[in-house]
Amino acid sequence: FQASRAASLLPQLLLRRRPASAGAFALLARPASSASGGLPPLTTEIHPGIKRGAFSQLTDADVSAFEAIVGGDHVIKDADEVLSYNIDWLRICRGQGQLVLRPKTTEEVSAIVRHCNKRRLAVVPQGGNTGLVGGSVPLFDEIVISTSRMNSLLSIDPVSGVLVAEAGCVLEQLDREAASQGLMMPLDLGAKGSCQIGGNLATNAGGLRLLRYGSLRGTTLGLEAVLPTGQVLDCLTTLRKDNTGYDIKQLLIGSEGTLGIITKAAILCPARPKSVQLAFLGLDSFQAVLDTYRLARRSLGEILSAFEFIDSESMRAVKQNLGLSCPLGEHSFYVLAETSGSNETHDREKLDGFIESVMSMDGCATDGTVAQDAGQFAHLWSLRERIVESLLVDGYEYKYDVSLPLADIYRLVEHMRTRLDGRVIRTAGYGHLGDGNLHLNFTTPKFDAKVLELIEPHVFDWVRDRRGSVSAEHGLGLKKSQYIRHSKADFAVRVMAEVKRLLDPNGIMNPYKVLPDE
Ligand code: FAD
Ligand code: MLT
Ligand code: ZN
Repeated sequence: FQASRAASLLPQLLLRRRPASAGAFALLARPASSASGGLPPLTTEIHPGIKRGAFSQLTDADVSAFEAIVGGDHVIKDADEVLSYNIDWLRICRGQGQLVLRPKTTEEVSAIVRHCNKRRLAVVPQGGNTGLVGGSVPLFDEIVISTSRMNSLLSIDPVSGVLVAEAGCVLEQLDREAASQGLMMPLDLGAKGSCQIGGNLATNAGGLRLLRYGSLRGTTLGLEAVLPTGQVLDCLTTLRKDNTGYDIKQLLIGSEGTLGIITKAAILCPARPKSVQLAFLGLDSFQAVLDTYRLARRSLGEILSAFEFIDSESMRAVKQNLGLSCPLGEHSFYVLAETSGSNETHDREKLDGFIESVMSMDGCATDGTVAQDAGQFAHLWSLRERIVESLLVDGYEYKYDVSLPLADIYRLVEHMRTRLDGRVIRTAGYGHLGDGNLHLNFTTPKFDAKVLELIEPHVFDWVRDRRGSVSAEHGLGLKKSQYIRHSKADFAVRVMAEVKRLLDPNGIMNPYKVLPDE
C-alpha cells in the first residue's frame, strides 16, 4: 500500500469521473458491439403475448393539438429521429412509437396529458433513457413525453442544502451546481452524464453511495408531478419536517412513470466532503469480501461512503472488452472501499488502520492500493462503473439486479455459473455489497431463447426462496413486471393496482409496465 498524498484534490472530482468539456456534459457512452450494430427486434416480437390496450390511434388533429401546446419544433415526427426514443440503453427493447413531445414547462406537460387522457392516447415519460428494465420506451405506439427541455435549476440554498430543480436536469449537471455551493447530490451512478433527476426519482435509483446517504425516498423533500388526468400535484415543499397527512410524493418515487410525470423536485444535498480516500483491494474468496466489509463498518464507521465488489469475470470483461488495466494481479474478487469525511488526517488514519487490520487478518485482503491522485481515483472507479458497458461488448446481455441476504449473494452467482456452464460467454457478479445488492449478468454473442429459459424464472424463484427482492434498484419496467409477486404479497399487488386505477382511470400512463397482466 502506498499513502495517498493527493486526497485533498479529490472532493471536487469526486462525482465527476468522466471528463466533460466546459459547459457541456458528456453523454453516457454505449459500446459499439456486434449486437448493437443492427436494430434490436421489436419488443412485440419478443413478447407476442402482450396485446395493445384499447387506446385510440393518433390522428392529425392530435398532432395539431400538440403543436399548439409545445410548438411545432418540439413535436418530433421524423421516423429516424423518433427511433432513438424507441430503443432502450441495453438495446433489448424496440417500440413502435411515432411521436415524441418535448415540453418545456409543467403547464405544457399538463395540457399534453389532459389531451391524451381525454382522447385515451397512451404515453411513456422519458428522461435520459438509461433505464435497464425496458420501462422508458414504448411497446406499441405510445407517445413519448421527453423531459429533456425541462432542465432548469430553480434554486439551491447553501444553508439548508436544499436544491430545487426541474425533472429534466442531468444528474451530473446538478452535482456540478451543488459543488459550487459546497454541496453534493446524495446519489451517484455510472449513468450520471445522461440520466435525469426525474428518471432517478421515477426509478428510485440507488447507486454507489446509498450506503452512506440513503435512498431518494429519504432525501427527496418535495415533488411536483402531472397526474394521468393532467392535474398538477403540488407537493413541492422544501421543509424537512411536514407530517400533514399522507406522503403522496412517495407514490411517485419508484413508480417508473406509471402514476404520473414528475416535473420538479426538492432534494436535500449533503455537504461535499473535504477529504475522499479510495482503497482498492484484491481478495481470494467471497468470505474474505464479507469479512472485509465487516471490518470496514467497524473501523471506518461514519466515513465509509461506498463498498463495492467486483468478481474476476467482471474484471476480465472491463480488461478484455474496454482495454482497461487493473493495478492488482489476478484475484477472485476486488473491493472498492471509499471514505468521505471532513478531516484528511483523521480519515487517513482511519483508512490506514483499516488496511492494516485487513492485511493482518488471515484470509482477508491479500493485495491492494490506495488512490494517489485524482487520475488514479477516476481510473479505479471506472473499473467498477464501466462493467455494465463492457458486458454489452460480448453481444447480448441478460441483466439481473437482486437483493439477497449477504450470505447468499455470491452463492447465486456460483449456482448460475454451474447451471449455464458452456452456454454463455460469461456469468459476471458485482454490485453494491453494502446494500446487499447483486448485479448478476450473463452474456451470449446474440439473444439465445434457450439460455433465457434456463435463467428465468429459475433465478427469480431462487431469490424468492431466500426472501430476496427480484429488483433491488433498477425497477420492474417491462422486463420484470410479471415477477412482482416473487417479492410482494398478493394483497400488496392488489392495493397497487387499485392505486393505479384511482390515479389513472384510463390506464394511459406507461401501460404494460410495473404491474403484471391482470
Ligand atoms: P429513463 O431511463 O428515461 O426512465 C426510467 C423510468 O422512469 C421509465 O419507466 C420512465 O417512464 C420513467 N421516467 C423517466 N422520467 C420520468 C419523469 N420525469 N416522471 C415520471 N417517470 C419518469 N440504477 C441504479 O439504481 N443504480 C445504479 O447504480 C445505476 N447505474 C447505472 C449505470 C448505467 C451505465 C446505466 C445505463 C444505468 C444505470 N442505472 C442505475 C439505471 C437507472 O435506472 C438509470 O440510470 C436512471 O435512474 C434512470 O434515469 P433516466 O433519466 O435515464 O430515466
Ligand atoms: C451499476 O451498479 O453499475 C448499475 O446498477 C448498472 C448495472 O447493473 O451494472
Ligand atoms: Zn447498481
